[in-house]
Amino acid sequence: MEKHLQHPVFKVLADTAAKHGIEAYVIGGYVRDIFLHRPSKDIDIVVLGNGIEFAELVAAQLKTKVAVFKNFGTAMLKFQDLEIEFVGARKESYRSDSRKPIVENGTIKDDQLRRDFTINALAISLNKDSYGALVDPFNGTEDLQNKLMRTPLDPEITFSDDPLRMMRAIRFASQLGFSIDEQALNAISLQKTRISIVSKERITDELNKIILSPLPSVGFKYLFDTGLLHLIFPQMANLYGVEVINGKGHKDNFYHTLQVLDNICEATGDLWLRWAAILHDIAKPATKRFEEGHGWTFHGHEDKGARMVPQIFAQLKLPLNEKMKYVQKLVQLHLRPIVLAQEVVTDSAVRRLLFDAGEDIESLMVLCNADVTTKNEYKVKKYRNNFELVKQKLKDVEERDKIRNWQPPISGNDIMTTFGLGAGKEVGLIKNAIREAILEGEITNSYEEAMEFMLRKAKELGLSPVNN
Ligand code: CTP
Repeated sequence: MEKHLQHPVFKVLADTAAKHGIEAYVIGGYVRDIFLHRPSKDIDIVVLGNGIEFAELVAAQLKTKVAVFKNFGTAMLKFQDLEIEFVGARKESYRSDSRKPIVENGTIKDDQLRRDFTINALAISLNKDSYGALVDPFNGTEDLQNKLMRTPLDPEITFSDDPLRMMRAIRFASQLGFSIDEQALNAISLQKTRISIVSKERITDELNKIILSPLPSVGFKYLFDTGLLHLIFPQMANLYGVEVINGKGHKDNFYHTLQVLDNICEATGDLWLRWAAILHDIAKPATKRFEEGHGWTFHGHEDKGARMVPQIFAQLKLPLNEKMKYVQKLVQLHLRPIVLAQEVVTDSAVRRLLFDAGEDIESLMVLCNADVTTKNEYKVKKYRNNFELVKQKLKDVEERDKIRNWQPPISGNDIMTTFGLGAGKEVGLIKNAIREAILEGEITNSYEEAMEFMLRKAKELGLSPVNN
């Protein structure tokens, strides 16, 4: 492994350790990522003894400062673009937020045993007689090869030490395309309710990492199968299942949503657009009806879904800012391009869509494309062709009418000053009428035509311009 310790900092670490007779190892994610060919800038060092003291000795050599986290018994220093964290080998649980005293007199093996997964328990020696040797007492490299998440200890102990690790197991599986060892999976199912002692922020952090992984359905299926999803995000678990009445079923909205999510991941790495895919049908269970002679309907699920977004964001401690509004808008509008693609595409319908979606029109089209999950090749082709048509139309109409981010050429203020009005119903009436006339294509999107239209409209309401 020596060739992976090329950075000069490893030499400083090794020399300092040798000089003071301290045993030190590189451990955890940095070592794992060497095997996965994922270069990393975060280095974890474990020493037999006091991690903070060793960090201070190293910092003196590197002429840099240390940040000490006394409560956690850890220290961190930055060197060039690296972040190096130091900890003493622990016999007891690794947990950084444990209220138990930290026991720092462990061997390297004790420390590895207390880590979350075998692939995260790999260590490389920085000691003189064994410099660069891999220390892998729990066959982590074998698990890397077999793409398996396994705990060094009995998984029930590992997860009870820190229940966040249940989320981490699923997150790594999703990020790396690994499976979770059967015993570990059972332990998660058994201990799932312990997730309640973990903060919402940390859970959502892991959830977002699952969503950002190449194929998030891997993670969500594990979350669902273990029952964790029902606890951390019940609205999504609720999408699961098919009801049959008079021999008629509807599609399983959980698996449909996962398909849409995986589809959208091919087109975008944006977390919030991926969230929109997760939430686009979230209100289907709440709006589901069986209509005699018609079958299953989900009328208004886009409106109700949009109304559910703020509450779900609050519950998951996601930001209640413009990101939430963006997701909400996409949920609200997600059926519009599909409806358009099924009809004769009129200019006015395209203008309305452009007006409502504004600068998010491209995101909306990406979401709609991902939403086509039918297995029927013919239907897929038809939808995709129609989407292309809609996209072309969107482009043509936008070039001609400039509706995106559009403000009608006459403002409420203009109306008030022209007719000497205060703020009130009439101003809104005239303003809406102008906007509608432009969207419907009755008049062009120009100041002159809008002015003329306004005067006509005002006359109908018995208003005449005042002389300023
Ligand atoms: N670790 C652990 N239990 C946890 C968190 C971390 O045992 N709940 C150990 C693992 O050995 C892990 C190391 O601490 O490799 C560093 O943790 P962290 O930086 O959170 O994760 P990484 O494994 O480096 O992975 P990532 O950066 O993707 O989170």
